[in-house]
Amino acid sequence: MLADFQFHHIGIAVKDIKATSAIYEGGGYKPSTIIYDPIQNVDICWLTKDDSPTLELLAPVNENSPVNKILEKNGVSPYHTCYVVKDIQEAISELRKQKYVMISKPAEAVAFKGSKVAFLFNKNVGLIELVETPAEIID
Ligand code: NI
Repeated sequence: MLADFQFHHIGIAVKDIKATSAIYEGGGYKPSTIIYDPIQNVDICWLTKDDSPTLELLAPVNENSPVNKILEKNGVSPYHTCYVVKDIQEAISELRKQKYVMISKPAEAVAFKGSKVAFLFNKNVGLIELVETPAEIID
């Protein structure tokens, strides 16, 4: 990891975004609109609550969604953590030195207001996502 990593959210693979969101709403979380991400091939819903970590629900939209694998293996479950970085390219080259493998190259993510995201994997950490500042989420 990098010393200036700033935690952003936990990504949770879900089967039914509305069913899961309703449960968290009962716990005081506020849902965003549902956002279709054509790159990850998923529907996304942000859940936010004061003084609590932000959650990102990701549901497959068809059989080609990468979250299907997570759901088949583990059912509904958290599967990535996301960190904000100032310079995504610089962070990636540092993480590669720390034996992280790139899973998806930096690309603009629709769930953020124009910020780039990338996914990397390390066998002792699991899957992490990087998002470049300002990392403002769609509400
Ligand atoms: Ni995420």
